[in-house]
Amino acid sequence: MVFKSMWTAWTVKHKPRTLAGVIGNKEAIQKLVEWVKSWDKGIPKKRAAFLYGPPGIGKTVTVEALANDLKMELVEKNASDYRTEKAIQRFAGLASQYGTLFGRKRLILLDELDGITGREDAGGLKAIMNIVKTAKCPIILIANDPYDPRFTALRQLCLMIEFKKPRVREVQRLLQRICMLEGINAEEAALRFIAQRSQGDVRSAINDLQALAQGKKRLTFDDVSWLAYRDRKEKIFEVLRLIFYSRTCDGAKRAVAMADVDLDMLFEWVYENLPYHIRDPQDLAEAMESLAKADLYRGRIRLTQDWKLQSYVIDFMTAGVAMARKRTKPAGWVPLRFPERIKWLSKTKAERELRAAIAKKIKRKCHISATRAIKEYIPYLRIIFENNSEMANKIAEWLDLNEHMKAYLSGKN
Ligand SMILES: Nc1ncnc2c1ncn2[C@@H]1O[C@H](COP(=O)(O)OP(=O)(O)OP(=O)(O)O)[C@@H](O)[C@H]1O
Ligand SMILES: [Mg+2]
Repeated sequence: MVFKSMWTAWTVKHKPRTLAGVIGNKEAIQKLVEWVKSWDKGIPKKRAAFLYGPPGIGKTVTVEALANDLKMELVEKNASDYRTEKAIQRFAGLASQYGTLFGRKRLILLDELDGITGREDAGGLKAIMNIVKTAKCPIILIANDPYDPRFTALRQLCLMIEFKKPRVREVQRLLQRICMLEGINAEEAALRFIAQRSQGDVRSAINDLQALAQGKKRLTFDDVSWLAYRDRKEKIFEVLRLIFYSRTCDGAKRAVAMADVDLDMLFEWVYENLPYHIRDPQDLAEAMESLAKADLYRGRIRLTQDWKLQSYVIDFMTAGVAMARKRTKPAGWVPLRFPERIKWLSKTKAERELRAAIAKKIKRKCHISATRAIKEYIPYLRIIFENNSEMANKIAEWLDLNEHMKAYLSGKN
């Protein structure tokens, strides 16, 4: 029993039972409640309400909470229950009565209407229209996209109610409430981050929260911030797998098209991971050869700015690498590695930039190239700056160096 309660999804455990617990869409909900209540005064013009909007924002849960608040009997059906005309006939009779035997009022919900597709379901849609035209109790339909041409005729019969994504602040507050109930002390920034990332999808926000926070006493921003990184990493992993394991040139090339990654970055990823995925020596040599050609074109682009050559870089880097795999046997799952070179480059980036800036100052005064300044002048300047502060100050003034540059040359950072 303990296990069971530990593993219930929080979207179920913390599902609002009453309308007061549903966040967002106050006006839409108000409109829906008024329409349902209007049935007490007789059958209204529109016998069905059509709720629509993106996934995970509380459409289904609103109807369930509403039935609960108004103490109505809810008959809930999903697309799988009403695919065909025959299936619908089985419960169509329920719609012919408002009051039930036990004195409760009936509400029929046909959820996930998007689920009925294709020709064989056409009869199903028609049967639904017939129920709506003659219903003696309120019918609620739900779909994500009501403007699908299939629903055109049905729409005319319904009171259309749009559900929108709740605001980030509202989602954040809901997450806060769940944390309180779960005994978790969560940083505001952490919850805001989860709420923002979910982009209004409450269900996925709650799922993320459970994955990150279940079993914890505290949830900090650090606990969640890596999520942003996870997305990017997953993307590049997918791309790499396409490059290493595609059977066709097209498949490998498509990887780049779908990836929103920088080509130079991708090159480093391929270079770093290649030996672990293409392990037959001859295959590897061929793949490396192809990568070297890609690099050659990269260099030429850098020199000439001739971006037409980019397609060669892509071909060699993707299709060329994929086609090199001839003898390598599948090795099962091999983890992908983060390129050492990118790590190193980003670690030393600030230092390299500072050095380049100093070289530029020297270049201007001494009329030599920046490369020569780095190689031949800076080492001597370092000796002077470390040992003779008076001379160093004069040179710094002459070269117009700032404090960072001076500190760098005197080895202080
Ligand atoms: N507005 C909301 N207020 C409170 N909880 C919500 C809200 N929206 C979603 N949830 C949570 O997410 C879960 C899923 O919501 P629901 O099933 O109502 O989404 P939906 O809009 O019907 O999505 P779909 O279009 O995918 O069917 C609920 O059980 C609840 O825990
Ligand atoms: Mg739903």
